[in-house]
Amino acid sequence: MIQPLRGMKDLTFEESDRFVHIVKTAITVARSYGYNYIETPILEETALFKRSVGDSSDIVTKEMYQFEDKGGNDVCMRPEGTAGIVRAFVSAKLDRQPMKQKFYYYGPMFRYERPQKGRLRAFHQFGCESFGEASVYEDFTVIVMIGQIFDALGIGYDLLINSLGCQDCMPAYREKLVGFLTTIRSDLCEDCNRRISTNPIRVLDCKNEHCQAHLTDSPKLIHALCDSCDTDFNTLTALLDKAEIRYTVDTNLVRGLDYYNKTAFEFVSNEIGSQSAIAGGGRYDKLVEYLDGKPTPGIGFALGIERIMALVQMPRKQREGYYMGAMVPEAIDILLRLASRKRLEDKVTVEYNSKGFKSHMKGADKAHARYALLIGEDELANGTVWLKDLETKEEQSIRIDAL
Ligand code: HAM
Repeated sequence: MIQPLRGMKDLTFEESDRFVHIVKTAITVARSYGYNYIETPILEETALFKRSVGDSSDIVTKEMYQFEDKGGNDVCMRPEGTAGIVRAFVSAKLDRQPMKQKFYYYGPMFRYERPQKGRLRAFHQFGCESFGEASVYEDFTVIVMIGQIFDALGIGYDLLINSLGCQDCMPAYREKLVGFLTTIRSDLCEDCNRRISTNPIRVLDCKNEHCQAHLTDSPKLIHALCDSCDTDFNTLTALLDKAEIRYTVDTNLVRGLDYYNKTAFEFVSNEIGSQSAIAGGGRYDKLVEYLDGKPTPGIGFALGIERIMALVQMPRKQREGYYMGAMVPEAIDILLRLASRKRLEDKVTVEYNSKGFKSHMKGADKAHARYALLIGEDELANGTVWLKDLETKEEQSIRIDAL
């Protein structure tokens, strides 16, 4: 029997119900903030991710589903959504229009990671990307929106925020950090040693406890921000304080993708084990330019749908629609016609085999129908149907033309 690949899962029944509930809830909230749906291809040129997510990031160096297609093109299954959407934004020349654009999306992402609880190789994200708004008020609004999605889903969270500075303050900080890291080089793991030259900021969020113990005295970017980044960060924290949104400033929060600047954030849950990030995002004011567009600020986030599925409180399933059954074979074509009519307004399940009363009532229960509608010999002779409301238990006989 062929099984799904390691780290990949089918979603059915209870799980697919959860999936749909999360996506629907997120869409409702995103639309109320003015986001429109965007769909981009799952397969993109590998160069797109190298230039955006970053040549030295773990995602690009270790985790890409990358291959040569039949035409000899170097392509890659998207590991995340932002790069493709920025590419689409530039491809459609939206960077040349003065209008602000906001997009939401959801779908599968692929990362060749070591699978574990909460970490899959094919997983799903719901995300939003807002283009053209440089104000820190937008950062605040995006954070509020994510909180609203989690509130609507009945999920608790902790919010971590940091500032990653900009091209004015980051280079000097990076130099200072490299100086510090070089002095503790022998105490750091192999990955950190490599990152000192390729991507020193990523050393800060190394998961190795031994490394973390040596990083407590590292210089913090938050103390080295330029005036503009510092003002924005202070405005953001003041807005969050006023809105009574709890947060922790995590100076080691650097995110695993290289395109961020200024505000970076993560929503974490302490109820799902070590893979605790349920959403992440931040500002990426240079990314449109990196991908050959005109300078356009951007900010966005993505939620991990599978991780949220483990947390979400599903609303109680209501009985809905009709179960239709015949106790004489001649009645089945009447039911089929009735079903087509009723399906214009409601859910209908039709049993094609004629069966006894008890068996139909079991079927109606299994279908979780609100109404059982049956036709037996008497009903067939009288031009009526027998209808039972399975919630109120009320029964009645109705003429077919009055239904
Ligand atoms: P990310 O933090 O890499 O950000 O992913 C966002 C969320 O996807 C994570 O918080 C997590 O819930 C989920 N996730 C990531 N990897 C896995 C995995 N292997 N298995 C299950 N769930 C996973 C991004 O992808 C950015 N594109 C977010 C963004 C949008 N930034 C700006 N705009």
